[in-house]
Amino acid sequence: MGRTIAVFNQKGGVGKTTTVVNAAAALGLLKKKVLVVDMDPQGNTTSAFGKKDPEDRPTTYEWLIGEAELEDTAVDTEPNVRLVPANANLAGLEIELAMEPDRESVLWERLGEQADYDFVFLDCPPSLGLLSLNALTAADSVLIPIQTEYYALEGVSQLMRTIQLVQKDLNTDLEVEGVLLTMYDRRNNLALDVVEEVKKHFGKKVYKTAIPRNIRLAEAPSYGESAMQFDKSSKGAQAYAALAKEMIKRRKS
Ligand SMILES: Nc1ncnc2c1ncn2[C@@H]1O[C@H](COP(=O)(O)OP(=O)(O)OP(=O)(O)O)[C@@H](O)[C@H]1O
Ligand SMILES: [Mg+2]
Repeated sequence: MGRTIAVFNQKGGVGKTTTVVNAAAALGLLKKKVLVVDMDPQGNTTSAFGKKDPEDRPTTYEWLIGEAELEDTAVDTEPNVRLVPANANLAGLEIELAMEPDRESVLWERLGEQADYDFVFLDCPPSLGLLSLNALTAADSVLIPIQTEYYALEGVSQLMRTIQLVQKDLNTDLEVEGVLLTMYDRRNNLALDVVEEVKKHFGKKVYKTAIPRNIRLAEAPSYGESAMQFDKSSKGAQAYAALAKEMIKRRKS
């Protein structure tokens, strides 16, 4: 059975999208079948995979409101990776859903059990709104990227409160898949302190693999490819390849 993982941190710019795109691509290269659902109206995951604002085809929005089926919405991207693309239309969904009784479980209902995929990634927007709540309700687990910086743990208590609320009311089985340190800079003395602090807080949930700050990871999206395709030998791509292996290993143990 596939594992549905929401990549979530309400803090902006911590590496959620970069992680979704490259972890998905790396798992695909390891022959895992991966579905990526772009749940962010910014559509960053969509453009990172070279699918510009898909106005002429259904998106996450049409799929979630029942105007399109998953098979007609998902597009092929990189080896073994399919994408449900998003554009700004998705922002409207939060407002449209606001009055619905089952507003947090629309994605869960639409997604169902995905037997065809080994991993389903949900890229969340940087907010605690309904789109993120839908992702956390539909997910088996949440992967939390944390930027390795001085204020790393700022916002983490709110994040954990949100996860606990979801566990209490919406999705009792939701687990923490793992905590990923991103934009790690070895030359920065502070980085080691931050790593220790995050480990103290999350213990074994912290992945051994930390993602370094690497320019190729930032450049790849403008070429419409993951770093795994754009520059497989870069430090960034290699780190995501290591993460993919670690994720598979964790699932087996
Ligand atoms: N390891 C890294 N090294 C260098 N640049 C990175 C790295 N990770 C992410 N970036 C860059 O930092 C910016 C923010 O990353 P990203 O878009 O993945 O964050 P996000 O959490 O998805 O943001 P948002 O909250 O807006 O959705 C992007 O420009 C991205 O290319
Ligand atoms: Mg993003």
